[in-house]
Amino acid sequence: MSCSTQWTMNAVKEFTYEIVETTDLFDPANPELGRLPDGRACHGTRLVVMDETVEKIFGERIRAYFERTNVSVEYLTLQGGDDHKTFDQMLRVASRLTEIGTDRVGTPPIVIGGGVVQDVVGMAASLYRRGIPYVRVPTTLLGQIDGSVSAKTGVNYEGCRNRLGTFAPPPRTLIDSSLIATLPPRQIRSGLGEALKMALIKDRTLFEVLERYGDHLVRDRLQDSGTYAGDEGPGQTVIHRAISGMAEELQKNLWETELRRIVDYGHTFSPIVEMSALPELYHGEAVAMDCVFSAVLAARRGLLPMEELERIVATVNRIGLAPSHPMFGDAPTMLRALADTVRHRDGHQFVTLLERVGETRFVDDLSEREITEAAGVMAVLARDPYAPVAELCGSVRRTPALAGAGSAR
Ligand SMILES: NC(=O)c1ccc[n+]([C@@H]2O[C@H](COP(=O)([O-])OP(=O)(O)OC[C@H]3O[C@@H](n4cnc5c(N)ncnc54)[C@H](O)[C@@H]3O)[C@@H](O)[C@H]2O)c1
Ligand SMILES: [Zn+2]
Repeated sequence: MSCSTQWTMNAVKEFTYEIVETTDLFDPANPELGRLPDGRACHGTRLVVMDETVEKIFGERIRAYFERTNVSVEYLTLQGGDDHKTFDQMLRVASRLTEIGTDRVGTPPIVIGGGVVQDVVGMAASLYRRGIPYVRVPTTLLGQIDGSVSAKTGVNYEGCRNRLGTFAPPPRTLIDSSLIATLPPRQIRSGLGEALKMALIKDRTLFEVLERYGDHLVRDRLQDSGTYAGDEGPGQTVIHRAISGMAEELQKNLWETELRRIVDYGHTFSPIVEMSALPELYHGEAVAMDCVFSAVLAARRGLLPMEELERIVATVNRIGLAPSHPMFGDAPTMLRALADTVRHRDGHQFVTLLERVGETRFVDDLSEREITEAAGVMAVLARDPYAPVAELCGSVRRTPALAGAGSAR
């Protein structure tokens, strides 16, 4: 006869973390870079991990900063780019932390670079000694407006994006928007892809800024060198509104216990495309295409007005992003992408669709036919980004939203 005894543990881990915007971050007169998250004094050597490009551009200033401020540091340089977001690269960080004897709290490493090195170092910090604090300094637009708020770390594995990773937000993230002034225009556009996502799901004002200033933002690298009537130029507006929007959304569901997340807009179909097309497509580029694909799905369902769809595609073009790619025009790939996402969402589609710019609803009944027909529209947009999208949507036979029946799980 069997007998069971049970002990139930119940604990709540509260976590507070800060995203601090500052200027002249690498000026020794600014204490932020060397400051410990909880304000205590540092008593050892800290690891500073730099992205290779950051090392080339800012390395000298960063080294001078730590020398002048008498902070004992050791360095490690890693390559950015998603094809370097690997478990091996993460282990290199763990090895360096071990080598320099990083302790549990007092010597948090600092990572300065794009989203890739942020995710890699974040994962290493979350595993080293079962988790130590770290400080994040994102230097790409995407890293500043999206990764900066996130609690997630990770590496790509077995051909899947972020397949291995942890939830481990750093107690401090430092943002200096002048650091992105050295980014190539294509990287700025990729970052604007994430800003567009945020605009579409909840911020019409942000959308209008992107719609009006898309090309200008890229040219100016969001540095607002022109004169503007309002308090803030478009660059600052984009950065501030995107961060605030993200913070608001993540705060209510940080550990993702709820799988219906509007911030996953633009991330339903893109992961597979992104991994298959690596290194051809940047993250924000694939996200923007997924935003368009999802908008086409919504418009064809009669949820999103056609004029709004046209404005979305025009804005994508205005930013200089491509609205589509041949892989988004390939129905079997899109169906495979959705199937993989459904596994990630515990058997549900939970796909965010737009009702208008800034307003969303979740659907769980996208059919194979809807995906196939939307892919048909994307195939044309991949060939001609300026093709009349509303007409294209109308010319493919409209599929009624069949609840359940034939849904593409
Ligand atoms: N943790 C999260 O929640 C989260 C959120 C968004 C994105 N991400 C991840 O971030 C990655 C994309 O980030 P990314 O777009 O920053 O890519 P990235 O880190 O590859 O950086 C892009 C390129 O810019 C270079 N670079 C970095 N800073 C520079 C600067 N100031 N001037 C010139 N060049 C510079 C890098 O060396 C790299 O070649 C993806 O892997 C994505 O999954 C994670
Ligand atoms: Zn993203």
